[in-house]
Amino acid sequence: MSPDLLNDARSRLASARAVTVLTGVGISADSGVPTFRGTDGLWRNYRAEDLATPEAFKRDPRLVWEWYSWRRELIATKQPNDAHRAIASVESRVNDFWLITQNVDGLHRAAGSRKLSEIHGNIWMVRCTGCGTMTENYQVPLPLLPYCGQCGELLRPHIVWFGESLQEEDLTRCANQLQACDVLLVIGTSGVVYPAAGFAAIAKEAGACVIEVNLDPTPQSDLADIALRGRAKELVPLLLQAGE
Ligand code: APR
Repeated sequence: MSPDLLNDARSRLASARAVTVLTGVGISADSGVPTFRGTDGLWRNYRAEDLATPEAFKRDPRLVWEWYSWRRELIATKQPNDAHRAIASVESRVNDFWLITQNVDGLHRAAGSRKLSEIHGNIWMVRCTGCGTMTENYQVPLPLLPYCGQCGELLRPHIVWFGESLQEEDLTRCANQLQACDVLLVIGTSGVVYPAAGFAAIAKEAGACVIEVNLDPTPQSDLADIALRGRAKELVPLLLQAGE
């Protein structure tokens, strides 16, 4: 990758008044979290699209909970990496900053990020299918099946599954930040799952410079003003430390 590209991206970020960051599981891959669409993402030969749906949960809640329990155990052993930390440290430096993550692993929060929307939910939150009560739950392994302490109904992961809508509040916040940002930094997402797959186009349309960091080309790469190929944990600190 040319040093000019990296320097260009650094100076765009350093001079930006408003920065929005969009992350996918590629940023957590550097902490050892399996990606969804890589070969490491399969569990017992199921794809995420086979398990992360309301239909799958209705048909076989035990199977879906087993999968989440396996993921929770795996994620519990992982730590945020330098890319998560660089993003957390930039939020106090940039005037108007927002992080949009599709990741449910909680590693951005663990790194200290507070200005963020976890648009697909959080694997450490559970929600009652009966009374809707939401609670933090860090128990690993979980009992199969877990039930609500309030009403006794089945709990489900507080995750936005395929076929479900994002929270209205998150959608509004994301739309505002995408419209307002000078730079959108897109890190480690394959860019195929909507609505997040459309976020780069929205920001670009509103005049933002789009910078992509990914190991491989994605459907968003052509749209990006600057596409950087490499590992998130190496490139993101270089990009965001520009002003320090
Ligand atoms: N550094 C940068 N990019 C990486 C790295 C790395 N170390 N490792 C992998 N990547 C890139 C891959 O090239 C790929 O483009 O991260 C991307 C991961 O893509 P996916 O596995 O499809 O994950 P993501 O884009 O986060 O998925 C979106 O789909 O399954 C649903 O709800 C789930 O939030 C998830 C959504």
